[in-house]
Amino acid sequence: MSPDIRRLSDRKRRGEELSAEEIAWLVEAYTAGEIDDAPMAAWLMAVCCAGMTDAETQALTDAMARSGEMLNLACIDAPTVDKHSTGGVGDKITLVAAPIVAACGGCVVKMSGRGLGHTGGTIDKLEAIPGLRTDLTPEELLAQAREVGVAVASQSKALAPADGKMYALRDATGTVDSRALIASSIMSKKLAGGAQAIVLEVTVGSGAFMETVDEGRALAELMVRIGRRAGRCVAALLTDMSRPLGRAVGNAIEVEEAAAVLAGGGPADVREVALAIVSWMLATAGLASGIDEAHEAADEALRSGAAAEKLAALVEAQGGDASALDRALLGHTPAAVGAWGIDREGIVTRMDALGVGRAALATGAGRRCKGGAVDPAAGLRIISVEGERTRAGEPVVEVMASSGEHLQDALVELGAAIIVSERAAEQRPLIIDVLAPEERV
Ligand code: URA
Repeated sequence: MSPDIRRLSDRKRRGEELSAEEIAWLVEAYTAGEIDDAPMAAWLMAVCCAGMTDAETQALTDAMARSGEMLNLACIDAPTVDKHSTGGVGDKITLVAAPIVAACGGCVVKMSGRGLGHTGGTIDKLEAIPGLRTDLTPEELLAQAREVGVAVASQSKALAPADGKMYALRDATGTVDSRALIASSIMSKKLAGGAQAIVLEVTVGSGAFMETVDEGRALAELMVRIGRRAGRCVAALLTDMSRPLGRAVGNAIEVEEAAAVLAGGGPADVREVALAIVSWMLATAGLASGIDEAHEAADEALRSGAAAEKLAALVEAQGGDASALDRALLGHTPAAVGAWGIDREGIVTRMDALGVGRAALATGAGRRCKGGAVDPAAGLRIISVEGERTRAGEPVVEVMASSGEHLQDALVELGAAIIVSERAAEQRPLIIDVLAPEERV
């Protein structure tokens, strides 16, 4: 007899552990349309309230990963390595890290997401490059990975389709906020993506899913355990997302900043986080014997220009115009421009990531609802970051918006997100902690 979704929800709500078979049935039946959204939402809410054991979370991850195609990367000669970030404001690390890893001999086949709410998405950023396609078929993805060493595509519907359906329902029913559901959602896509080595970046702070370091660490440890039990080599970094990363927040503007980092410039914080992630990607993939050697290899890929060439090769392979990487805002022109500043001298004491993310969303760079459009030209250029001095009348943030109304909304959000005073506040380190591949978690 098949299990009954209502009984499974009841038992979960009472804190009982469900079996792997029951969870596999539930995922299969929901993906096949045999369970309606309403009872599934009730089950998801029961999970949010009662949590899941490690065994249940592992079973849910496996069932979601197996709900569609599992990419087979055996045809790729180079070590395969994937990364995932729980996201944030100004997070353009994939655009920097993936080309560096490819320049160091690794192969990155990456499925990325679009932005929703105040967090940006790599796919929206890449699509700001004129002509670039992200809807690669699995065959195109593998062919490009073999040829260029790096391919970044939008989440294929063929991969972990259960997650696509469940995530949309979670988003609509307020059931995103569960460690077990977040971990299984992320890890099902990573396992289906096929890479042998996986580096997870769990962001922590106001601009991230996880507000506190303890919550972030618990999520990172859970995802690492899931990945290792599935036979993958996994490391995780906890990074700060209480302030925006870098000086650019938006789509074209973040690609511009990523290209600047690959050309040897760009903001120091983006470079620091990218190099830390790249180093762990190289080490977990066996492309370096340790973190110091990996760091040196990454530095050399930047110095020699090999990493910048890999980004250009990725853009061209995906049909984009690589010459746009040399143009301000990739050649886009914003409809309205303005600036936020104050009428006295001071130090930027606080620039809250969530508030800045909301301001970027207000410019038109973000998406308020699934399927909405984003403006590639919209975004923010931060002139004075936390700890830097600003003078009376000088811009602290330049704003590029889709219309005059969007511009005004963004200025209001910035006013709520930024504090300028006489003193600089103490800053949390960017890399808060690392769970190295051999650590037991
Ligand atoms: N990112 C995902 O892919 N899934 C979640 O549940 C949360 C963040």
